[in-house]
Amino acid sequence: MERIHITDVAPRDGLQNQRVPVLTGAKLELIRRLAAAGVQSVEATSFVSPKAVPQMADAAALVPQLKTAVPGLRCSVLVPNLKGLERAHAAGAEEIAVVLSATETMNRRNINMGLAEATEVSEQTLAAAQRLGLRTRAYVAVAFDCPFEGATPLDEVVRLARRMHEAGAGEVVIADTIGSAAPGQVKARLAALREAVPVDRLAMHFHDTRGMGVANAWAALEAGVRRFDASVGGIGGCPFAPGAAGNVATEDLVLMAAQSGFDAGISTDGLIDAVDYAEAQLQRPLGGRSITWLRRQREKARETQTG
Ligand code: HMG
Ligand code: MG
Repeated sequence: MERIHITDVAPRDGLQNQRVPVLTGAKLELIRRLAAAGVQSVEATSFVSPKAVPQMADAAALVPQLKTAVPGLRCSVLVPNLKGLERAHAAGAEEIAVVLSATETMNRRNINMGLAEATEVSEQTLAAAQRLGLRTRAYVAVAFDCPFEGATPLDEVVRLARRMHEAGAGEVVIADTIGSAAPGQVKARLAALREAVPVDRLAMHFHDTRGMGVANAWAALEAGVRRFDASVGGIGGCPFAPGAAGNVATEDLVLMAAQSGFDAGISTDGLIDAVDYAEAQLQRPLGGRSITWLRRQREKARETQTG
């Protein structure tokens, strides 16, 4: 089976928009369960303004605990600017992600900068992170549609992806922020993006608003992409992008990949343990499209074992 790499963004993208406050210890337990399921990399938190995203206010307390709670797990943190990088580095983060949106309005709503300034700040933050010896990722958000400006011009997405690659981003993460993409568009956009960024440096970050997350991931797999973001239980959404639903569920992506000959190294039973925990914390049912079926399979296997 060919290997794919999944970054579980539930601790950051999944939790940032939740109404129920989640304690630092509970975030660590969610991350611990993800690692126990075989997840090799997570986006653990973000160093943003606590006024803008109160749920991530404990980032500086969470990060120093990761090394002992989940040794060996690759933990990235989102930073919107140099101040975020400074805070992340002081807390001991070893990998950061910058977030650049491909339209003027989305940048203003998300990080209070225009497109030109956001591009420069992302480049400066990537350069500073590399000087500190950190691994880096760069999101190109609203890479299909913008909730404020409509369809995002492909040229602009390619231009910004190239700039992030040239600025040294280890991964350029193409994000369907509001989950409006369809597989044909993924194929077309990736054909152009692959000309600007080597495909092994590209990752896809799909939100599942219209139920096309898994189909979109398949289109990306067929286009040669092997790196994906996903969120256990399908939780997620940017608070500043109206209409954004959760990310494609990690359990759906792992299942689709496995049945199609790709190994993510992640156990779906382990992911169910993480979904169970997230449900208890957020006090509501969660899970991707496959969760009922996966739970039934696990029950059947347990019944067989106990005879
Ligand atoms: P601002 O108000 O323009 O910042 O916010 P400022 O530079 O004018 O500073 C104002 C105050 O914020 C100052 O403090 C700064 O020190 C402080 P004061 O003097 O008033 O006490 N500040 C910070 N504090 C903590 N951490 C920082 C930081 N920077 C400045 N890094 C800012 C600009 C970017 C901070 C703000 O707009 C913000 O935090 N935005 C939140 C962005 C966010 O978290 N969005 C959601 C994540 S992105 C996403 O979900 C999309 C993604 O999943 C991909 C996809 O799906 O598309 C990644
Ligand atoms: Mg997102």
